[in-house]
Amino acid sequence: MSPLHVTRTLPEDATDAALRADVLHGLTVTPKWLPPKWFYDARGSELFEQITELPEYYPTRAEREILATRSAEIAAASGARTLVELGSGSSEKTRYLIEALPRLAAYVPVDVSESALTQAGRALIEERPQLEVHALIADFTAPLALPATPGPRLLAFLGGTIGNLLPAERAEFLASVRALLAPGDGLLLGTDLVKDEDVLVRAYDDAAGVTAAFNKNVLAVVDRELGADFDPDAFDHVALWDAEREWIEMRLRSRTAQTVKVPALDLAVDFAAGEELRTEVSAKFRKEGVTGELADAGLELTHWWTDAQGRFALSLSVA
Ligand code: AVJ
Repeated sequence: MSPLHVTRTLPEDATDAALRADVLHGLTVTPKWLPPKWFYDARGSELFEQITELPEYYPTRAEREILATRSAEIAAASGARTLVELGSGSSEKTRYLIEALPRLAAYVPVDVSESALTQAGRALIEERPQLEVHALIADFTAPLALPATPGPRLLAFLGGTIGNLLPAERAEFLASVRALLAPGDGLLLGTDLVKDEDVLVRAYDDAAGVTAAFNKNVLAVVDRELGADFDPDAFDHVALWDAEREWIEMRLRSRTAQTVKVPALDLAVDFAAGEELRTEVSAKFRKEGVTGELADAGLELTHWWTDAQGRFALSLSVA
């Protein structure tokens, strides 16, 4: 059985410094803004897992359907010997791909969560003892150095997480992915698709209130990490569809005029009654847009798979 290799490119204190910088900037600009990556502490990750099982939240099921029905086609088109997965989390949906790639020699999961990486990596090594697993503890939005493993490589970025980046960040991200690819390598990208506004809004404002709790969890993270005194109950969860930019926005709306203290930053932040703090953008795509954004990064779309209802897409593109 091959060992689990773990490489950390993220300094232990990087997260703390980045959180401080984001909170300081985000709470002192107009409109106020906190980046969505801070949702995912242990509680937030658990709430996200619950979201993926909600009747209203279709993307996870739609993407799983594509992987379950098309992994043989995806595998044949890529012929990958190394699978790199950005933001791998629990690697649950990736199993379909790994099982469809008999010649796969190496799996390189990349995530900021060391516990998710080592758990998933160990389970995988037990199932596929010949597979080399090189876990990278890294922030996939920062430049990556990949281990020397056999090509061709398939880079997978699933879940529709690319939609959480703003357009300029997406362009920068795709260009950095392109720079990692050699001829014959490919990018497998998951994108949620534009659809009926009601369906989209319900997916981000579920009846059971799980997404509301997930959204408010970012305040609990700032309270715990920076000693702030946000009261999550003093904010309402808001999900809205921006038809022009074709993205869902999640916001937290202050119920009253209030001042929140953030002692670690020596900061006091005033909220007007009704003032909104933006916490997430989740862009929805069309095939033409994905093709164009990939082309702008020097990537050519070669395959496009959707679920039967056409809600979500996986695209394969090559350098
Ligand atoms: C899995 C990160 C893409 O934007 O749909 C779920 C996160 N936010 N409900 C998404 C999320 C609110 C999710 N991503």
